[in-house]
Amino acid sequence: MILWLCLLLEMVLVSTAARGPPRVSERVAHRQSVRLGRTMKLPCPVEGDPPPLIMWTKDGRNIHSGWTRFKVLQHGLRIKDVETDDAGTYICKATNGFGSVNINYTLIIIDDSGARGGAGAANGDSEHGPELAGKLVRPRFTQPAKMRKRVIARPVGSSVRLKCTASGNPRPDIVWLKDNRPLVDEEGGAGGDGKKKKWTLSLKNLTPEHSGKYTCHVSNRAGEINATYKVEVIQRTNSKPILTGTHPVNTTVDYGGTTSFQCKVRSDVKPVIQWLKRVEPGDENKFNSTIEVGDHRFVVLPTGEVWSRPDGSYLNKLLITRAKEEDAGMYICLGANTMGYSFRSAYLTVLPGQRHQTLTDDKGILH
Ligand SMILES: *[C@@H]1O[C@H](CO)[C@@H](O)[C@H](O)[C@H]1NC(C)=O
Ligand SMILES: *[C@@H]1O[C@H](CO)[C@@H](O)[C@H](O)[C@H]1NC(C)=O
Ligand SMILES: *[C@@H]1O[C@H](CO)[C@@H](O)[C@H](O)[C@H]1NC(C)=O
Ligand SMILES: *[C@@H]1O[C@H](CO)[C@@H](O)[C@H](O)[C@H]1NC(C)=O
Repeated sequence: MILWLCLLLEMVLVSTAARGPPRVSERVAHRQSVRLGRTMKLPCPVEGDPPPLIMWTKDGRNIHSGWTRFKVLQHGLRIKDVETDDAGTYICKATNGFGSVNINYTLIIIDDSGARGGAGAANGDSEHGPELAGKLVRPRFTQPAKMRKRVIARPVGSSVRLKCTASGNPRPDIVWLKDNRPLVDEEGGAGGDGKKKKWTLSLKNLTPEHSGKYTCHVSNRAGEINATYKVEVIQRTNSKPILTGTHPVNTTVDYGGTTSFQCKVRSDVKPVIQWLKRVEPGDENKFNSTIEVGDHRFVVLPTGEVWSRPDGSYLNKLLITRAKEEDAGMYICLGANTMGYSFRSAYLTVLPGQRHQTLTDDKGILH
């Protein structure tokens, strides 16, 4: 009996002693390489008590179920049909209540499809060598290490250089596209003077309009390759939005009629404007998803475009067509930016008017 108690006590002590942040249980190679088209697995050997939650990121972005070729398994990340763009920095983050641990990887993609066609010549760096007449070498990127970061976030006013240094025989040409449309020269500063500049797209004095997908197409007679960068220009602000003017205002509409609420938001960066409607008592189960604010539940309504006005404010309208009884109630306009949010509410009253509804339905006008 005593022995049994001691054993139990020891087990409890051992197991409580083991509780703590996750730890890496095996050595891993932080640089990994894989050939194009293959399937590979990046291991994440971690243990912990409580068992940690595992999350993977690639170049800072969460890998989720929308990434169809990727699968987060119990002890690693599987990548199927590896593509050139899969190159990058992968981090496995294991977290439990005590803390977290990261395992990071640099993944290199080996593309030897060019080498086969190039009959040996592709092994040398033909950018610096003489062009061998007759020997076609399809283009390849010669500095993949400088192209790993494909999603680039930069503050307004800063600059960014996108690189697509490549070689091939004959010497390839490069074309840059923004959101799939050819870039006008003056927009980017691509091409132009000097060998080095040819492969680099410099974007200076960034504005939000610079945000987008930039693709370089590098081609010669032997083939074509491309790479895409996503640039996000982030606006900074020191103040949360303010709702200005009198809107939204209490509004009354006939049954079946059309009306709208307006919301005017002042903000030095483009705000997110969102309309919410308070869920009336008894209607809680009518909606798939509601959010709770204070004592009330709200549904998030689909929002139309946010219009920018010359006076620096932003306007959004919520249109209510063919008003029904259940449209009546409290509406909230919420203006938000990175510094915070402000909101205002107004009520919609729907006047009963069965005749009006019948009329419009018969003629089918109000749609
Ligand atoms: C990757 O891991 C090493 C060693 O743990 C660390 O020095 C480095 O900062 C990590 N890099 C990133 C991007 O987390
Ligand atoms: C870019 O290259 C990939 C192969 O890496 C190819 O499948 C794709 O069609 C190319 N995109 C364009 C727009 O040429
Ligand atoms: C708007 O309607 C609500 C509810 O009927 C009322 O409490 C509020 O005072 C009204 N606001 C204005 C400005 O009339
Ligand atoms: C709730 O979800 C179902 C199925 O996903 C969908 O058909 C329905 O339109 C949704 N209802 C609302 C009010 O969003």
